[in-house]
Parts: sequence; structure tokens; C-alpha cells
Amino acid sequence: MNIIETIKKRKSSRTFNKVSLKPADKRDLESFIIENSTGLENEVVDFRIIEKNDADKQMKLDYGMIKGHNTYILGMSKSSIDSRVNYGYLMEKVVLKATEMNISTCWVGIFDSTYFKEVSIEDGFEIPGIVIIGYSEDRQTYQDKYIRFTINASKRHSWDKLFFNYKLKTPLTPEYAKKYSDSLEMVRLAPSSGNTQPWRVFFNDSANEFHFFKKMKNKRYELRGLHDIDMGIALSHFELTSLQNGLSGRWIKQTKENVNSIEDLQYIMTWKCE
Ligand SMILES: Cc1cc2nc3c(=O)[nH]c(=O)nc-3n(C[C@H](O)[C@H](O)[C@H](O)COP(=O)(O)O)c2cc1C
Repeated sequence: MNIIETIKKRKSSRTFNKVSLKPADKRDLESFIIENSTGLENEVVDFRIIEKNDADKQMKLDYGMIKGHNTYILGMSKSSIDSRVNYGYLMEKVVLKATEMNISTCWVGIFDSTYFKEVSIEDGFEIPGIVIIGYSEDRQTYQDKYIRFTINASKRHSWDKLFFNYKLKTPLTPEYAKKYSDSLEMVRLAPSSGNTQPWRVFFNDSANEFHFFKKMKNKRYELRGLHDIDMGIALSHFELTSLQNGLSGRWIKQTKENVNSIEDLQYIMTWKCE
């Protein structure tokens, strides 16, 4: 898969054709999920594809604005920031795989988890978000367009709002980020809850490290842990693009002493270039 093309191609679908996944598609996605189940700090998430049939009452999502959905991918994270970040990181890889296979997706953070009776949620665990998958028409419906318009879904913040020089705190330009400019651009294009784009990235050029911070943009989303998922999504876009461009590195969690605190931002994780 060319990850840059896939990231550019992906967008949330909210009108699905009421058909089941083709068995071959389901099988391919399931094997991808199994091969990609180990995430940050070696935490494993067992995602499942759950198909509901006509006899099951349909879950109303976004006040009925999402339509025709019957297939979901979901798993569990611990009820902690790091675990939800990892959930977003691993699930987004599945989303991009589905996009590559021409399967439509929509991340959903506000849903009724009791709908999934097939999953028993242990104490200290949660389903932080789900992804609807299925097929949809290339042409968007009026409703799809309307929702996209109300949340400004096609817009993204410019570089100067998102990426900075760690020491100077000045905006980072693609020219300065050089070989990492694609990686950051793909973070910029990532999906996020309500399109809030809570990621802020600070590049320390002497240590060759990118520090990822979270900016709380919406209290309701933050309380539901959705901004943590958003951060995980950003990490996966950064990593997949860097690796495709031949830039190796790894994720590390710096100790408090080793990373400066920055205004109202919360430190999440660091990409150490190698
Ligand atoms: C963690 C998360 C939760 C989301 N929850 C919902 C949701 O509950 N309902 C919905 O319609 N879209 C939801 N979205 C989709 C976003 O609104 C969408 O990604 C954003 O507006 C950008 O649009 P795009 O995905 O088409 O690029 C969610 C996205 C993420 C990443």
C-alpha cells in the first residue's frame, strides 16, 4: 500500500449500503488484524469484526445521521490514556488497510456499548471507540455532505498551528522538517473526533526526536477519552509514513524530567529517529 495515497483517499462515510462484507474481504481484514495486534509498549488489542443482522435492532448513531451500518470493528482498551492511545494507533492501521481495500469506514466515539452483547467488558476496561465498516457509493449523499459541512470535516489546521520547533517554540515549516515533512503532513490529514485535531508536535532537532502532545479541544470528547484515540491515530500516520519513506525510528515514553512541559499541553509520546 502507498500510505500517502491511502491517507489522502480516506474519509469518513456515513451512508452504507446495507450489505455484508464479502467473505474474502472479511478474511483479509481479519488476518491483517491478527498480524497487527501488538501496539505501543507491546500492548495487544484483540479487535473483532462484529456483524449484526436484520433481526438486531439497528443502533442509532449520530441521531440517525449514520445510515445502513451493520458491521463494526471493536476491541477493548484499559481505562487509561496510554491504552486508549494504543487503541487508536492500532485501529487506525486497520482503517487504512480497509481504505486500501476500498472498504468505507467511520470512526464513532459516541455510541451505546451495551449494543455489543457479544463482548463482555471486564472491570477497568472499556470500548473507547468503534469503527463502522462497509461499502458505500462513491457519490456522497446530501446527508453525508451536510454533516461534513457542519463539522468542517474536509478542513485541517495549517502547519503553524500544529508543528513547532521544540527549543524555540516557533512554527515548523515543511522546509525545516525536510525528510519528515510527509510524516507531519500525514498527521495533519488524520481524522479526529469532531475534527478537533488535538495533536501538537515539537521537533527537537539536536536529539532528533518528535514529541507528541495533546491539546484538549473539547471537554466532552476529552472526558470520553476520544482525544486519546485521536493521538493514537496521529502516531500511526506518522509512523507508517516515516517507515514508507525509509526513515526508521521507534516510539518511546520520555520521563517527566526529559521533556519540557509546554503550556496547557499534555505529553503523550516521542518518536526517536534512528
Ligand atoms: C475518535 C473519533 C471519534 C469519532 N466519532 C464520531 C461520531 O461519533 N460520529 C461521527 O459521525 N463521526 C465521528 N468521527 C469522525 C470525525 O468526525 C471525522 O474523522 C472528522 O470530521 C474528519 O473527517 P474525515 O474523517 O472525513 O477526514 C470520529 C472520529 C474519530 C477519530
